[in-house]
Amino acid sequence: MKNIVILTGAGISAESGLRTFRDSDGLWEGYNIEDVATPEAWEHNPVMVQQFYNERRKSVLEAKPNAAHYALAALEEKYKVTIVTQNIDDLHERAGSTNVVHLHGIITRSQSSIKPELTYPIDGWEIKMGEKCELGSQLRAHVVWFGEAVPMIETAAAICAGADLFILVGSSLAVYPAAGLIGYVDRGVPKYIIDPNIPSVNVRGNVIKIQEKATIGVPALVNELLKD
Ligand code: APR
Repeated sequence: MKNIVILTGAGISAESGLRTFRDSDGLWEGYNIEDVATPEAWEHNPVMVQQFYNERRKSVLEAKPNAAHYALAALEEKYKVTIVTQNIDDLHERAGSTNVVHLHGIITRSQSSIKPELTYPIDGWEIKMGEKCELGSQLRAHVVWFGEAVPMIETAAAICAGADLFILVGSSLAVYPAAGLIGYVDRGVPKYIIDPNIPSVNVRGNVIKIQEKATIGVPALVNELLKD
């Protein structure tokens, strides 16, 4: 069975109403990354960081998967599908995808602030100051901040190296190590890129650019792949 690997970024959730990071109305327009998405920010102002992710979590819980998420889930009828996502939302899972690797964590779980491997489900939208992990440390969002390790990167690289077909949806490829994953895909493997604003990729051979938004481009490509 053909092995399809899809790398997704914030663009696939844009039409579900979740803001991307670097588009004109992007998230980072409203905040300084250094103030809300780094270990130093957590040190200096944990309440502001907690509040930032509580607000993000609320929007995620209110959002719904869109046609692009559902189309990728439908691919599983015929292919072995692995989604490697940079997104911290759970829209792929809610659309029915069963094999999702979250490179940057997932906002619907909390994490110990002294032992990252300790994560917990969150009921409701907020983590309150004072809520502690089993080791007694303050709980934080289970997301990877700038400057923190990306524990799943080796797994993701091996997954990309094994792809028979690769699809990139909705990422500016601005952030490493995630942006380097496309380089692990074999030269001869078809690499589709779906984005209204195709990012520059420094890979040779077999790149097929689909300059469309996700809810148009992804279902169209999936329909073709399900016909094969
Ligand atoms: N459909 C498809 N792609 C879209 C759409 C859409 N409707 N709208 C925007 N895009 C594309 C943009 O053209 C851009 O290429 O989505 C991409 C969004 O890029 P970023 O905002 O940089 O998001 P992403 O690439 O996921 O960022 C990577 O950076 O800030 C960190 O941890 C954060 O995971 C994030 C990482």
